Amino acid sequence: MTDADSIRHVPHASPTSAEARRALMQNPGFGKVFSDHMVTFTWNAEKGWHDGEVKARAPFAIDPAAAVLHYAQEIFEGMKAYRTKDGIVLFRPEENARRMAQSAERMAMPPVPEDMFIDAVETLVRTDADWVPEGDGSLYLRPFIFASEAFLGVRPALQYIFCVIASPVGAYFKGGYKAVTVWVSDDYTRAAPGGTGAAKCGGNYAASLIAQAEANRNDCDQVVFLDAAEHRWVEELGGMNVCFVMDDGRLVTPPLGGTILPGITRASVLLLAREAGLRIEERPYSFEEWKADAESGKLREAFACGTAAVVAGIGEVRFNGGSFTIGNSGDGPVTGRLRDALVGIQRGTAEDRHGWVHRVE
Ligand code: PLP
Ligand code: COI
Repeated sequence: MTDADSIRHVPHASPTSAEARRALMQNPGFGKVFSDHMVTFTWNAEKGWHDGEVKARAPFAIDPAAAVLHYAQEIFEGMKAYRTKDGIVLFRPEENARRMAQSAERMAMPPVPEDMFIDAVETLVRTDADWVPEGDGSLYLRPFIFASEAFLGVRPALQYIFCVIASPVGAYFKGGYKAVTVWVSDDYTRAAPGGTGAAKCGGNYAASLIAQAEANRNDCDQVVFLDAAEHRWVEELGGMNVCFVMDDGRLVTPPLGGTILPGITRASVLLLAREAGLRIEERPYSFEEWKADAESGKLREAFACGTAAVVAGIGEVRFNGGSFTIGNSGDGPVTGRLRDALVGIQRGTAEDRHGWVHRVE
């Protein structure tokens, strides 16, 4: 970072009182409560990223012709700050920085340099340190970039805003670590080869909402997407990757091929699973195989993994015309052990042998 890139502190005129903050953080749910501040930077072709500020969280004034409102040039990240016994930490933030740069490239947007990304996130966490929950909760961080240029022609915008906001959160699923039920969509797909599936862009989520709503109508927590070309291969859930635990010590998960998000939780869990002696198979796994393996008992467990969801067992699978259960329909032992191993590192109760934990203060 040079001085020109550094983040200016603009004092907050009326920060939340300690008492009001404690009440808000009692039972925050997911993504409903926000901390006091935000970090912003502006980009234009002449100056690049500039005008970094940390200031009171407030609405943006954006032009009605801002390109993001018309052509959805927007990308985001999701990560968490954890309170450990020694201080506040982030988990592999450089991976979020790298993925955001890859998303930016795919969406023809200017990448945020890794050091600026980490400085922005750390600055917000330090400024809003009181908003990092104790216990099981965490401070969910949402860095994002959007096209702010007022222009209706279709081309990459020439002005952008990078922003980081923060939200104290509890468990993503309302049942906590109870196994979730998923809905396999046969009408909708999430991403096609050559599309934006590997980018964390808002448009992917907009396209997933109707399928997620269908899942909710069928009393399911998450939608499962199959591939767009053959409608046969399991890809991922609306907001998580998916893994399958077999009775012979194999862990099968769909490969990263451009249509699914390269999850940081997925990569971390695969390494922890390999170290725990599981054999990892990153390979296409079909819905037919999933059903047959669950019915024969060859499939012992399945789980969803992601920053928001952490590691959540999948107990039941529903689809048009039927359903099946997995194992004992609960949160299986391998799923539980992998979750404990991951959460232990994040919370500082297990050794961080891979250097994944990044101390903020
Ligand atoms: N897949 C999708 C579609 C997601 O939205 C997420 C969450 O960010 C993931 C996978 C998991 O990614 P990560 O583990 O990096 O949070
Ligand atoms: C995350 O896990 O960070 C996501 O972006 C997924 C979403 C379900 C909140």
